[in-house]
Amino acid sequence: MATNDSSVPKLPMKEIPGDYGVPFLGAMKDRYDFHYNQGTDDFFRCRMKKYESTVFRTNVPPGPFNARNSKVVVLVDAISFRILFDNSQVDKENRFEGTFMSSPSFNGGYKVCAFLDTTNSKHSVLKGLILSTLTRLHDKFILIFTNSITPMFTSLEKELSEKGTSYFNPLSDNLSFDFIFRLFCEGKNPIDTSVGTNGPKIVDKWVFFQLAPLISLGLKFIPNFLEDLVLHTFPLPYFLVKRDHQKLYNAFYNSMKDILDEAEKFGVKRDEACHNFVFLAGFNLYGDLKVFYPSLIKWIGTSGPNLHNQLVKEIRTAVKEAGGVITFSAIEKMPLVKSVVYETLRMDPPVAFQCAKARKNIIISNHDSSFLIKKDELIFGYQPLATKDPKVFKNAEDFIPDRFVGDGEKLLRYVYWSNGEETDDPTVNDKQCPGKDLIVLLGRLLVVEFFLRYDTFEIEFGKLLLGSKVTFKSITKATS
Ligand code: HEM
Repeated sequence: MATNDSSVPKLPMKEIPGDYGVPFLGAMKDRYDFHYNQGTDDFFRCRMKKYESTVFRTNVPPGPFNARNSKVVVLVDAISFRILFDNSQVDKENRFEGTFMSSPSFNGGYKVCAFLDTTNSKHSVLKGLILSTLTRLHDKFILIFTNSITPMFTSLEKELSEKGTSYFNPLSDNLSFDFIFRLFCEGKNPIDTSVGTNGPKIVDKWVFFQLAPLISLGLKFIPNFLEDLVLHTFPLPYFLVKRDHQKLYNAFYNSMKDILDEAEKFGVKRDEACHNFVFLAGFNLYGDLKVFYPSLIKWIGTSGPNLHNQLVKEIRTAVKEAGGVITFSAIEKMPLVKSVVYETLRMDPPVAFQCAKARKNIIISNHDSSFLIKKDELIFGYQPLATKDPKVFKNAEDFIPDRFVGDGEKLLRYVYWSNGEETDDPTVNDKQCPGKDLIVLLGRLLVVEFFLRYDTFEIEFGKLLLGSKVTFKSITKATS
């Protein structure tokens, strides 16, 4: 794992530029900039330009009264960002959502794995259970995904023929929920459980209540101050989603016997394990695919027929050589597909913020200077800028489909979507996402399944609360 050396400044020492303004008002001003005056991306870009530095001080949302401390040191280049992966130097307890943490009541009163620091003994137990479960389910990934995606294409074609367009996001949500439920719940169809067809809607609401302090709805008829008061100032209470969340929990609990039996062998109680897996399924997998899949289709769609043609050739040749079935080894013979998936994760990392507290005084470096971060200060990485660092990536703001093919693979160590370098593997001793390989596989599978059926397609896209909104305008069925 790459780290910054904490004791020796490699480059000239500089004061970290930036300020927090006056107490309370400074945090409120920065929150309004973030949500209403500038927007997320401009919030960080403007400050980077103003201070002429990729390391700077500012407040980040939500601030009062959701977060006790909103004062952070922001990192937006590919080099300094890596301090966030060095668990000997940074403490991640309670930092999964940033400077605030939603109430554990959303998870049965438990602090689930993602909120635990590596020094918390519970962390390695829970992460060990998650990693071993994913290894055990590995052979089922492709088959379950293939079964879950077929209804998506039926709906897509039906909507296109009836209405002339098809809104991709809800189709993608249904696919993700169906896949994850069947994966963890021994192949069971979620429709046959207490959630019925409402799984995605229930998860949307439950995740929204937890992430509301970071979200703005962008509704013109609601004044900013009112939205800010309701969404960003105090935590939204769990009881408003309790009934739905209980249904979700029951559906998993009653269908996940194998995983819960295994959990007991790890010394984890069945209900605590179930809350962890509901969080994995809903927050981590469903919540992040909600951003990742539309983004993947957006970038492939806007790249046009030339890329589509290349993908068609690569995918169909490899699948034909594998006897007409999608296998792990066939997927390995598709370097362009893999590169397109990584490039999407580089351009639009689905989890944009990473936060941690300095365990001690740390000296970090960016490309040209070193800086002192004091013990207990909060460090906040804004990943969409770190993975578009122009000193690492050529034409960093452009989507280049084959960026990671051949020699380009060397740059994968600067792809950070999983809270680690893409060339590293998650372990029980770090905070890297245990779903790393699964997500890259699910990205590749979506592209493969798509171009086995279709030659090309057209879309239009816009922005949503979290991520992109994608609508299909046309698809051309496979001719070869
Ligand atoms: C596109 C999909 C995904 C993205 C973008 C993503 C991203 C991340 C990130 C950035 C973190 C670190 C957050 C932090 O502490 O700052 C993380 C942690 C985590 N993710 Fe994922 N993730 C995805 C899918 C998954 C999947 C499929 C699973 C499991 C099935 C998963 C399980 C977890 C867990 C348990 C943690 C906490 C790890 C730890 O405490 O050591 N994630 N993920």
